[in-house]
Amino acid sequence: MRTRQELEEYLTEQFQWFHRHPELAYEEYQTTARIRELLEKEGIEICKSSLQTGLIAIVKGTAPAAGQERITALRCDIDALPIEEQAEVSYRSEHPGKMHACGHDLHITAGIGAAILLHEKRESFSGCVKFLFQPAEEESHGALKMLETGMMQDVPHIWGFHSDPTNETDTIGIREGYVAAAVDRFVVKVTGVGCHGAHPDDGIDPILTASAIVQGLQSIVSRNVNSFHPALLSVTRIEAGNTWNVIPAEAYLEGTVRTMDHADRILFETKVAQIAERIAAAYGAKAETEWIAGPPAICNDAAMAKLCEETAAKLGMKTVPEESSMGGDDFAFYIDRDTMDREVPGCYVKIGTGVGHPIHHPAFRVEIPVVCRTAEYLSELLLADLNR
Ligand code: NI
Repeated sequence: MRTRQELEEYLTEQFQWFHRHPELAYEEYQTTARIRELLEKEGIEICKSSLQTGLIAIVKGTAPAAGQERITALRCDIDALPIEEQAEVSYRSEHPGKMHACGHDLHITAGIGAAILLHEKRESFSGCVKFLFQPAEEESHGALKMLETGMMQDVPHIWGFHSDPTNETDTIGIREGYVAAAVDRFVVKVTGVGCHGAHPDDGIDPILTASAIVQGLQSIVSRNVNSFHPALLSVTRIEAGNTWNVIPAEAYLEGTVRTMDHADRILFETKVAQIAERIAAAYGAKAETEWIAGPPAICNDAAMAKLCEETAAKLGMKTVPEESSMGGDDFAFYIDRDTMDREVPGCYVKIGTGVGHPIHHPAFRVEIPVVCRTAEYLSELLLADLNR
């Protein structure tokens, strides 16, 4: 068994290794091999699965169970981003154009640390904890790969956590209810009739049509959604034409819709297509809409959120109200009724990494003491969960 200082030194070293070797979604081979190696060295069991990248580890308590054995799970995402690092750290990314700018290196290391701590204490609890080292969070569908393994079927509820550079170290952001939005994407193809730029009357202008659609889409939030519901639509890409004196035949719009409420999500799917088609028709053009559904919203379970607060208090950490965000996380799939076909309560907690550059920023960094502290916090939380 390591002392606190030995554990801190060990986890710091591992954290810096993961930081230096970032890998993008579905390419996390080196990362996965390293996680496997470190856990196996500790005698922690790795589940057999069909996963190409990512893995599931299981820590089993050896105390006799009073009643039914409890199971819990922790999701740790492991992928990095296509960003050239600019952080002022000695352990900078060694992979050009790639960086752990979302703190998933912390998630990996704190997950490993929590597994080690629980494994050391295995005689003090019964039941088990599944650690989901999940690939491709940034691509929004890595969680589904984990679910395909079938290893979540006996898990009654699940924990998730994320780095938060808007809070100081030793600060846990937590709240019950909605904390992250459903993340959907849409693409609209507008088809008109191309012609000479000097003779617009000979054609049907898809650019003018697309512009009207952009304006029209903004009316959904202001006119169709309940004013008390968070919701937004952003058109983020518009593409048409290739020169100055030709009206093209086609235009493309792409964007994202963020909602918390399930009914609002359905409403947007219908309304985006309807507005695009009908505005296009009014201009004599045609519009086809493709709706690409991403993760649903994340709603934190009240009892689990309370346990997060109690655990923080026990460790002398501060809690602050978790900021709700219109950002999303595919952690939502694990707790989505439609995906899981049953109720799976979940809780997604924010770990203060020291106030600094936001996540996805090239200079984002995690304060080193957070690594070991997060491992301790998560192991305490999981233990409290098994004993509740
Ligand atoms: Ni992230």
